[in-house]
Amino acid sequence: MSSIQSRVSDTPSGPVVEIEDLRVNFRTFDGVSKVLVGVDLRLERGDVMGLVGETGCGKSVTALSIPQLVPSPPGEIVGGDVRFLGQSVIGKSPAELRQLRARHIGMVFQDPNTNLNPVFTIEQQMIDVCLCRLGYEGAVSVTPFHRSRRDLWQQARNTAIALLHRVGFPNPEQRIKSYPHELSGGMRQRVLIAMSLAGTPDLLIADEPTTALDVSTQAQVLRLIRDLVDEFHLTVLLVTHNLGVVAQVCNRVAVMYAGRVVESGEVRRIFKSPAHPYTVGLLRAVPTMETRRGALEEIPGTIPNLLSPPPGCRFHLRCPHAMDVCGVEPPPPMRPIGDGTTVACHLYDGDDRNFRPDRPVDQVVDKVGTAGND
Ligand SMILES: Nc1ncnc2c1ncn2[C@@H]1O[C@H](COP(=O)(O)OP(=O)(O)OP(=O)(O)O)[C@@H](O)[C@H]1O
Ligand code: SF4
Ligand SMILES: [Mg+2]
Repeated sequence: MSSIQSRVSDTPSGPVVEIEDLRVNFRTFDGVSKVLVGVDLRLERGDVMGLVGETGCGKSVTALSIPQLVPSPPGEIVGGDVRFLGQSVIGKSPAELRQLRARHIGMVFQDPNTNLNPVFTIEQQMIDVCLCRLGYEGAVSVTPFHRSRRDLWQQARNTAIALLHRVGFPNPEQRIKSYPHELSGGMRQRVLIAMSLAGTPDLLIADEPTTALDVSTQAQVLRLIRDLVDEFHLTVLLVTHNLGVVAQVCNRVAVMYAGRVVESGEVRRIFKSPAHPYTVGLLRAVPTMETRRGALEEIPGTIPNLLSPPPGCRFHLRCPHAMDVCGVEPPPPMRPIGDGTTVACHLYDGDDRNFRPDRPVDQVVDKVGTAGND
């Protein structure tokens, strides 16, 4: 099993990811969509950070910006910086980015069906990934039929089987020869998690990794990710809609709205005492045993069209605390308000750092940890 243990990175101390004032536009036929308008995000080593927010608010684009996988065109980084282990990833060469993705950043996506190649067996795909880890770009020239390369192929296969064992893939010695369509959704997701670990990464980016799975398989996959964090010394960015998942798995959370992170900090603190009006709205919208019998709370309105967002704070048309300034001036940069929480909102412009919603959310928040899944 030692062959799959983390290298306890030989990398420098300090934050694993620092995103500063990141701005990304998408050129569409209808015009330029300002999708990210100043994202700030920081992941320290060992953080399990939940990235939450309504659909279309830019979670996936933020996550994809770390390994520089935002499709370009139509996407374009127009400002800010993304640093991974202290080095900017913007402007790295394709070869450097391939190394980064193969050896330092593992990715697990929402739909395992579309991320495994249907015409290759799990064995072929896993060995390919394991060979990349060993420094070979692809298995084309490394097959069991080339006598000189047989040992290398066998070594990669052994690593693949060890990884599949570790993620709870049943009977990998035999089932590694399966094609993706012969596996259940949960098994396919375990294969993807095993692949993401092959490079013994420093960072695991999981974008909605359990949304396509049934509830009990979701719980198993989340427990697996949680277990792997300590074992592989991982830092994790977990993109999800599900605040219950964040409560169970993450130690920190960043809340996004329409292209910005508006609040971030420790999960328990933010869920007990949210500071940003949007976070308050999200938490109140979580169904509980009580609200399921009555009317569900919701944030009025919808996320704005990013081709023509409202001026000022993009949330002001939905915000119960909007002031005159909110319709004119964008919110200030994230600022600390104590207890490790940072917020971007005009309510914290002055010395009044103690704004709290008029109605506490604690009753809802206490139940988030046991709320149902998506
Ligand atoms: N390839 C693309 N071309 C044009 N616009 C895009 C593209 N990819 C993303 N966008 C836009 O960027 C915005 C943010 O998208 P993103 O996928 O990051 O949202 P999200 O928060 O991950 O949403 P969800 O929760 O539904 O996954 C959306 O308005 C989306 O339409
Ligand atoms: S900046 Fe203004 S509109 Fe935006 S969330 Fe804060 S109070 Fe509401
Ligand atoms: Mg997404």
